[in-house]
Amino acid sequence: MNKRIVSALSSAILIAFFSISCSTAPEKPVVDGKIILTPKPGPSPRINGTRVFGVRPGSPFLFKIPATGTKPINYEVVNLPEGLSCDPATGMITGSLVKPGEYRTTIRATNSIGRAEREFRIVCGDELALTPHMGWNSWYVWENHVTDSIMRAAADAMVSSGMIDHGYMYINIDDCWSVKPGAKDSSLIGEARNSAGMVNSNKRFPDMKGMTDYIHSLGLKAGIYTSPGELTCAGHVAAYKFEEQDVARFAEWGYDFLKYDWCSYSKVGNKDVLEDLQRPYLLISSILKKQKRDIILNLCQYGMGDVWKWGKQVGGNSWRTAGDLGGSFEGIGTALFRDGFDVYSRDSLHLYAGPGGWNDPDYLLIGYLSNWKGQTVPTPLTPNEQYTHVSLWSLVAAPLIFSGDITRLDEFTLSLLTNDEIIDVDQDPLGKPGYRVSKTGDTEVWIRILEDGSKAVGLFNRGEKETEVTALWDDLGLTGKQKVRDLWRQEDQGNYSDRYTASVPEHGVVMLRLWPVN
Ligand code: GAL
Repeated sequence: MNKRIVSALSSAILIAFFSISCSTAPEKPVVDGKIILTPKPGPSPRINGTRVFGVRPGSPFLFKIPATGTKPINYEVVNLPEGLSCDPATGMITGSLVKPGEYRTTIRATNSIGRAEREFRIVCGDELALTPHMGWNSWYVWENHVTDSIMRAAADAMVSSGMIDHGYMYINIDDCWSVKPGAKDSSLIGEARNSAGMVNSNKRFPDMKGMTDYIHSLGLKAGIYTSPGELTCAGHVAAYKFEEQDVARFAEWGYDFLKYDWCSYSKVGNKDVLEDLQRPYLLISSILKKQKRDIILNLCQYGMGDVWKWGKQVGGNSWRTAGDLGGSFEGIGTALFRDGFDVYSRDSLHLYAGPGGWNDPDYLLIGYLSNWKGQTVPTPLTPNEQYTHVSLWSLVAAPLIFSGDITRLDEFTLSLLTNDEIIDVDQDPLGKPGYRVSKTGDTEVWIRILEDGSKAVGLFNRGEKETEVTALWDDLGLTGKQKVRDLWRQEDQGNYSDRYTASVPEHGVVMLRLWPVN
């Protein structure tokens, strides 16, 4: 047989196989054997990402309107409160607000093809992170060899990949930017602090302020990491006894986000004593609040002491609910089901999170990741598991922080990160996280109640074989006819009266949104 025919036949078999195992939509593009369900953004403008944004009085305001559609787009904000202005060419809203209050504005994005319009609420008060954070973090791809140029390249890629147009805004450096006592590598050694006791960056970060200025100039925000102990988890200088100086340093450098780990604090406090667990976070959040800029606080103590019950009270805007999802590269799939499904379906975690404070099951581990053996390789998750990963995160209102190589985004990974209807679930302004309503064998149905009265519903199959999963209106607390939409495919499925059944592939998901008819 001629080579062309063989290759055409094998593609046909591949497509047929994936159509049967993954969906009922054979027309979806298959790239490298992975079905891409997310339709490409259309040419007319669509406004994406969060619909509500918190800021404190007097803090510098920076929000770039996320919108897809053919560029150039002209941006306009109607009813923008005094103190703020919007650049029509870039969509960057800047300035600062003096008076606390809720400001209801309308964003307009216009291009040569059409116009999109959407309400955008700016809430000026004490509360930040009114919807889960969206962004990128360096840890799972660059781990201990992160540098200034890697961070700048990540910010550039956030723009060039278009992720910024879907609502992603944080570019967060993780561990390993400060000096490492005793390191052999000369780029990591030096004076740990300046004469005022403020922490220094290592030689891989020669100009922190220049770097955050660059990130901000793109309309993005910058994040940094430290620990409450003497050293971070990777053995770099951390904040113990220098909390005031270090936070002042982060503010001076222009950071907008702080991930505060636990490492080496076990030498100071007892992790079995609640007061000890809370102390470092109470201290750091009280210092953060004194700064003249808004800095979001992410607690990273792996869920100790049921942190979700008090993370918000100690000033956290999000808190890790379990250990590292990718601590073992080969174990990411196991962790996804254990620290994702199992943690979130016990103990009513959803009751404790909401606007201002979110459960954090760790980063999105898709695309190219470090295998902790010096190589960057594709995620070990199957395509179905990757759909499950992003779907579960958006149902439980988790931060959507991608931690793979953002400069090397394949089409499939980008499609997982940029489905605006899935992102809309994650970013729903009501801020009520979803929860599991039923479990039958290996299948589970999850619900999230959304602001417009609709419900997001996840039909999950944790088993090894494709199977039918049924959402019963009784289980979902629904009555009457519902319009059903498939969110990954962005397709209406019709109206249904008391249940909806779909075939769900092994380790896969079907994500739906249901609106009452009439
Ligand atoms: C861990 C944390 C990871 C990463 C790492 C850096 O404790 O859970 O997300 O920040 O420290 O050393």
